[in-house]
Amino acid sequence: MTSPHAQLLLTPGPLTTTRRTREAMLRDWGSRETDFIDLVASLCGKLLAIINSPGRHVCVPLQGSGTFAVEAAVGTLLPASGKALVLINGAYGRRIAKICQVLKRSYVELTFPEDAPVDPAQVAAKLKEDAVISHVFLIHCETTTGMLNPLQEVAEAVARAERRLVVDAMSSFGALPIDAARTPFEAVIAASGKCLEGVPGMGFILADEKDLLASAGNSHSLALDLTDQYVNLKKTGQWRFTPPTHVLAALHEAVAQFEEEGGQAARFARYSANCDALIDAMDEKGFQRVIARRHQAPIIVTFCAPESPAYHFKTFYEKVRKRGFVLYPGKLTEAETFRVGCIGDVRASDMEAAVRVFDDCLAEMGVQLRGRAGIPLGQ
Ligand SMILES: Cc1ncc(COP(=O)(O)O)c(C=O)c1O
Repeated sequence: MTSPHAQLLLTPGPLTTTRRTREAMLRDWGSRETDFIDLVASLCGKLLAIINSPGRHVCVPLQGSGTFAVEAAVGTLLPASGKALVLINGAYGRRIAKICQVLKRSYVELTFPEDAPVDPAQVAAKLKEDAVISHVFLIHCETTTGMLNPLQEVAEAVARAERRLVVDAMSSFGALPIDAARTPFEAVIAASGKCLEGVPGMGFILADEKDLLASAGNSHSLALDLTDQYVNLKKTGQWRFTPPTHVLAALHEAVAQFEEEGGQAARFARYSANCDALIDAMDEKGFQRVIARRHQAPIIVTFCAPESPAYHFKTFYEKVRKRGFVLYPGKLTEAETFRVGCIGDVRASDMEAAVRVFDDCLAEMGVQLRGRAGIPLGQ
């Protein structure tokens, strides 16, 4: 099947959306119209259904990119008297630590190598050692590398220690299973323009209602106060400040397509097929990866840059873009890499086509793949 898109964004968001999703933005909505209020309520219900919440969690939508939602969650859920344990194996874990620092919240970091998952045993030990820690922050899929962190095991360790877990599921929500009936957490944070395949512009926090209401007065910020946002939304059905109406309409339509596709299990299956097709084709060409396959989330894959004086990411990126595929630069602190996203309205055949283009472009640049230190091929 050939792609209906002129250009494919092989990036972790903004990503390739369907025409149907984009067409949902052709209408202007008044934020106080009943139609719009109903759309927001319907969307919130659908988002909660994705985590199978047994009624304990509520949905708080928020304007802005994913980081706004993360900052709102830290500022609202972590009181000034609390202390965060931030689990870090990439840039998004480091960002949560930075948010704690800027908001002057007490925190401690537990850092792992970027090519290794968070270790639940070390989390349990840290919680035992430091009784002051009140909240643990985990990145579900660390988009820096594509690493899948062990949500269930970390959640169990945190619950056993009677602390609260907040999960940044920005790049996993909708694609990887998150089941509130099985996995104990206080809140999950995600956004419109990732695996639900909406357009960027809003985040949402699915939070334990009791904890959220008990967090009133914690926030350093008016606009990022999730309790205030929730209480107002519940009372009036309206957002406190101008909602991103078109983004919400697009997300509602995107979630309808997500449900038609078969929900999280079907999305996981399609992204896994994309990821497998990409890795198989790239392995065959001799590209080295950073993450072993058993730790790889089917979201984004990090490849080592070819070790050749003829290789320059910018030239490679431009050549590949001119042939219809948009890549993502690497974000590792220690090695030169580039990343290829497997999410959005893309199929395995698109990934195979992309790899053929990578190969042609590198050949034009005079780059030969000689292999370099990384995950041995096939692992
Ligand atoms: C895991 C994770 N957290 C947070 C963010 C930040 O989101 P944004 O760049 O939309 O602010 C991202 C973005 O990709 C992410 O992947």
